[in-house]
Amino acid sequence: RVYAAVLAGGSGVRMGNPDKPKQFLMMGDKPIVVHTLEKFCVSGFFDRVILLCPETWLRQSQDIINKYCSKHAGQIDVVAGGSVRNETIMNAINHIETKYGADDGTILVTHDAVRPFVTYRVIEENIRAVEKYGACDTVVPATDTIVESANGETISVIPDRRMLYQGQTPQSFKMQHLKKLMLSLSEDEKAILTDACKALVLRGESVALVRGEESNIKITYPQDMRIALALVEGQSC
Ligand code: CTP
Repeated sequence: RVYAAVLAGGSGVRMGNPDKPKQFLMMGDKPIVVHTLEKFCVSGFFDRVILLCPETWLRQSQDIINKYCSKHAGQIDVVAGGSVRNETIMNAINHIETKYGADDGTILVTHDAVRPFVTYRVIEENIRAVEKYGACDTVVPATDTIVESANGETISVIPDRRMLYQGQTPQSFKMQHLKKLMLSLSEDEKAILTDACKALVLRGESVALVRGEESNIKITYPQDMRIALALVEGQSC
């Protein structure tokens, strides 16, 4: 079985929107999170799509789905996220396990609710990559030169750009294996390993690369919202 976890449990501090986390802002005719949910529901690859939202937004999230996404409401479970992103992923895993059961073949595709421009190709390649390699990350080749500095004052090293990629989402996993790994992390490790793929890599496991899209942007700052609005307008032309 294949599940999607749409991660919308954050509060969007960098967006500077005190009354509403960014994933609930309107983008064209519907909230950002609805654009994202539709991609997963329409793709037809998933047995169930889990929306993880802040605990205080459970009712409103369900209302938003009923209003803007009623055609797919029967496919979506709304569940409370956690205080950090990995905890939100764990809540998705626990929900799926409890409600639907899971085995070693269960696949979980995790995706940021605030990346509404993900494509069906990227979603499908994530599922294929997990079937083949057990885990994958979606990336695009780095366009800027990346400079590393250990002290924040002078450059330590400038890695070869041809080997560097920028991480996007989805990140996808064999679900039970990810759970086992996350439960094995110490509190110190949890503080550093905020990225689930990084935890796998540090344990020496292979994580496959799926080629993302330049357009698969993450809405983080107000200027990203302006780009997103332009992109969505372009799509409807
Ligand atoms: N996220 C989540 N649960 C958390 C934190 C983040 O599900 N406890 C989700 C966000 O809702 C978002 C995605 O992870 O869809 C990427 O995180 P980010 O862009 O950093 O979102 P926020 O944490 O909301 O933003 P900020 O850091 O500006 O507060």
